[in-house]
Amino acid sequence: MATVFLKNDNIKINVPVGTTMRSLAEKSGASMIFGCRVGDCGTCIAKVLEGMEYLSALNEKEEKLLQMIDSRESDVRFMCQCSVTDKDGNIVIEYI
Ligand code: FES
Repeated sequence: MATVFLKNDNIKINVPVGTTMRSLAEKSGASMIFGCRVGDCGTCIAKVLEGMEYLSALNEKEEKLLQMIDSRESDVRFMCQCSVTDKDGNIVIEYI
């Protein structure tokens, strides 16, 4: 099981590989905000403070969103678009 810490809500949760960050946030009662839930709006933007290597690769929708907001920060992801990829992962997220 990977461990995900949602810093804003002080929630630490163990999840299996393949768990989407969206489902994790919704099931845990986190205050992370989602709009479209399909990678179009950018509402779910967050910083990955630790463990980017344990998340699915940046996809085309995320790349478009990053261009739209002109972000050059490599630690920014969109939570409706990524999932956990390693059972030993330790991931820390901060919503922005
Ligand atoms: S909720 Fe719209 S991009 Fe994630």
